Amino acid sequence: TEGAKPRLTVLGTGYLGATHAICMAVLGFEVLGMDVDEAKIETLRSGRVPFYEPGLPEMLQKALESGRLRFTTSYEEVAEFGDVHFVCVGTPQRKGSTAADMSYVDAVVSGLAPHLDRRALIVGKSTVPVGTAARLTSLVQSLAPAGTDIELAWNPEFLREGFAVEDTMRPDRLVFGVASDWARERLSAAFAPMLAADVPLVVTDLPTAELVKVSANSFLATKISFINAMAEVCEATGADVQDLAAALAYDNRIGGRFLRPGLGFGGGCLPKDIRAYIHRAEELGVGQAVSFLREVDAINLRRRARTVDLIRAQAGGSLAGVTVCALGAAFKPNSDDIRDAPALDVARLLQEEGAIVRVYDPQAMDNARRVYPDLHYASSVAEAAAGAQVVALLTEWDHFREIDPVWLGELVAKKAIVDGRHALDQFAWREAGWDYKALGRT
Ligand code: UGA
Repeated sequence: TEGAKPRLTVLGTGYLGATHAICMAVLGFEVLGMDVDEAKIETLRSGRVPFYEPGLPEMLQKALESGRLRFTTSYEEVAEFGDVHFVCVGTPQRKGSTAADMSYVDAVVSGLAPHLDRRALIVGKSTVPVGTAARLTSLVQSLAPAGTDIELAWNPEFLREGFAVEDTMRPDRLVFGVASDWARERLSAAFAPMLAADVPLVVTDLPTAELVKVSANSFLATKISFINAMAEVCEATGADVQDLAAALAYDNRIGGRFLRPGLGFGGGCLPKDIRAYIHRAEELGVGQAVSFLREVDAINLRRRARTVDLIRAQAGGSLAGVTVCALGAAFKPNSDDIRDAPALDVARLLQEEGAIVRVYDPQAMDNARRVYPDLHYASSVAEAAAGAQVVALLTEWDHFREIDPVWLGELVAKKAIVDGRHALDQFAWREAGWDYKALGRT
């Protein structure tokens, strides 16, 4: 199969893996997706995507109909089928530590290696501590049958939840971390459709490729915390952070993206990635170089506490017995992901102070109920808002942006709102008689 279109396997069919497998099959590759979770594999085989991602179910249909996408739970089958194996499992924050939990990456590589009996490329896509590819190279060499030539490469993934299909089909750039020309050629073949569409490519060594990913997420997190730090200063001076951000954004060197102030960042990537990066840099003796990321994390977590402060103030100084309508649970709109979701953190803190919190989210209700069974859940905005003393907008779904303040005003007990995401038109809400408050704005 050398030179020809490589056959691809994708290890791990979570967010990243499922999207990658589906898109590569639609692009014309033969793809085998693998996961140890039988239920997940069954769901995918039956044409359903096990999480919410706009556009992905249609792509899965297309891929299955093409006959180019199959799923398995067997490492033997993966080894037998594939020329290029993509590692797409998660690297969550380790329990009781800030380091990345590498057990899933290590498990798939250890599961696959003993079955590899011909030349193959293992490509890491997961976000990992720098040095992982080198470590995995030794691991594979110790586990693969003697004489088989297995190489590691790194191809970090930059997709955003909610835009997974778009970001995979038309990425801003591709990064190939490789240790040989052969690996570069194999990766070029696997990404031929993107390269033909002139997606920019950076070819580099393994540690640089690993670092690109954590650097990118660190920069994005820093940008968000920067504007949120400015919001704190605005609060002390009566200035308006929205106007400030708008004015900064006109400077092309700064740019307006990821400069939206509010409740801050959450999700399964940004928070744990910056923590793992600090941890890894300390191990390498260069902790000082990234110690500013500690401040980025602290500013971000402070947003949650300050949002609670604002909601408490809107409730008249105490949250005990106060009914709060919490709009949003997902860590961001267009996702059902509640990992490290600022919205649910705020809901939990409100409840700790004795508030009765009624949560509504267009997609994340099942996930939220599972992890936070003690909160109250409503099945619509109207139900969440009925009789509420404070409304808190915590995730900026379009569904919430489109709420008519006059309509909502008739449902609540008191027209007090905290716009945790700067998502609403403050003038329209004030016009409708609401006491509108947002962090970084007076
Ligand atoms: C992030 C990166 O944006 C992706 O490029 C990366 O591939 C991914 O992590 C990953 O490492 O896998 P994602 O976690 O899907 O993607 O979400 P983002 O769109 O980055 O949003 C992260 C958080 O920041 C959300 O909670 C969002 O509400 C918040 N945010 C974003 C702000 O508070 N302000 C902004 O201006 C932008």
